[in-house]
Amino acid sequence: MEIQLPRGTRDILPNEIETWHFLENKFRSICETYRYSEIRTPIFEHTELFERGVGDSTDIVTKEMYTFQDKKGRSLTLRPEGTAPVVRSFVEHKMFGDVKQPVKLYYNGPMFRYERPQGGRQRQFTQMGIEAIGSDDPSIDAEVISLAMNFFRSIGLENISLIINSLGDKESRLKHREALIAHFEPQIDEFCSDCQARLYKNPLRILDCKTDHEHPLVKSAPSILDFLNEESKEYFAKVKGFLDVIGISYTVDPTLVRGLDYYNHTTFEIMSDEEGFGAKTTLCGGGRYHGLVQEFDGPDTPGIGFGMGVERVLLALEKAQVKIPAAKGLSCYVISAQEEADEKVVQLVNMLRDHGISAEKDYQKRKLKAQLKDADRKQAKYTVIIGEDEIRTGEYSLKNMATGEQFLVTETELITTLEEQAEGDE
Ligand code: HAM
Repeated sequence: MEIQLPRGTRDILPNEIETWHFLENKFRSICETYRYSEIRTPIFEHTELFERGVGDSTDIVTKEMYTFQDKKGRSLTLRPEGTAPVVRSFVEHKMFGDVKQPVKLYYNGPMFRYERPQGGRQRQFTQMGIEAIGSDDPSIDAEVISLAMNFFRSIGLENISLIINSLGDKESRLKHREALIAHFEPQIDEFCSDCQARLYKNPLRILDCKTDHEHPLVKSAPSILDFLNEESKEYFAKVKGFLDVIGISYTVDPTLVRGLDYYNHTTFEIMSDEEGFGAKTTLCGGGRYHGLVQEFDGPDTPGIGFGMGVERVLLALEKAQVKIPAAKGLSCYVISAQEEADEKVVQLVNMLRDHGISAEKDYQKRKLKAQLKDADRKQAKYTVIIGEDEIRTGEYSLKNMATGEQFLVTETELITTLEEQAEGDE
């Protein structure tokens, strides 16, 4: 049987990679502007990291992890998200001792969740994300959100909306938890077995259950915003104030609880409003996580960040029909008019590449006409034909493929012309 891709994964083919590079470069450049540095953590981690970090009553941990035992019987898991690994690394490398606080990090890489694949939902997907660890200043919340919004604007995605909420501090969450238990307890037998198990363990998770999200009790559940204590209310007001100051509009949605356990205070999601995008529209989700550093045995340190699904961003770009600027094309195709010119062609192509000029030649023993056709197919901006005469005189005929113009150039002139043309393209 023909071996095919595992379900929920995909190849990124050469004709798509330009868009990926475009997104990656934009993200890197914006992160640098906001002074975030890149961090790369392993693809797999000890399973316990996610059980303790993401939470053992979340869907991710109970149903979606790719967990395996290595040859020594250790339980390892392909990372389902980036925050727990980054915080682990922050603690392991004692970044809390760094004089430069907060520590601002970004990442870009594959994540793995055993979910039912559909448009915008895969088993291996890519997240670009950031984490700012070491400050509880509400202006960082606005900064993190603004970085994501600026990224979307810079790639030409206009039709998006920001939803924010606050889950409050520990005290507020405890009060809300009690209210949720009292709310669901009398009718909990109408809920799925997962929700029944969550009732006393983590009732907040009932609110984002994929099975019971339409149940009237979910819709009428007590809102966290009614349980925020003064401090949490004030914190949330400041975050909103900073967003207002930098001109970012938002909607407050008290049902936004997020699917991971580590959140408190600010949570947010950025949705694509493109029509026909399908059920899953969240491009980016994040929030604050005070307590996660401590959970991994580091000092009490606040953090905030987001993760963005690159495949979903690509779908949104497609729906919005955003044109990605084309990468630099092929500058020059060097054509061999006869066998005797082959060595000169190899030498010339090599020389152009040494000068950083993209150059191509024929490798299929094509006749002159077929080489011209190949140059056309590869969208070469210029062609040069090398035959015995050219080798003898040291002058080559350079053809601008767009205008059809042709002129004689020496080797040195060939390089300067192509270099100038490349600079003009930048
Ligand atoms: P999350 O909401 O689980 O948060 O994922 C963030 C984003 O990853 C989602 O909004 C979505 O775009 C993308 N995503 C998630 N699952 C899939 C999937 N199966 N297929 C395609 N895309 C997917 C987190 O992962 C947190 N670590 C975010 C964060 C960072 N919070 C604080 N810092």
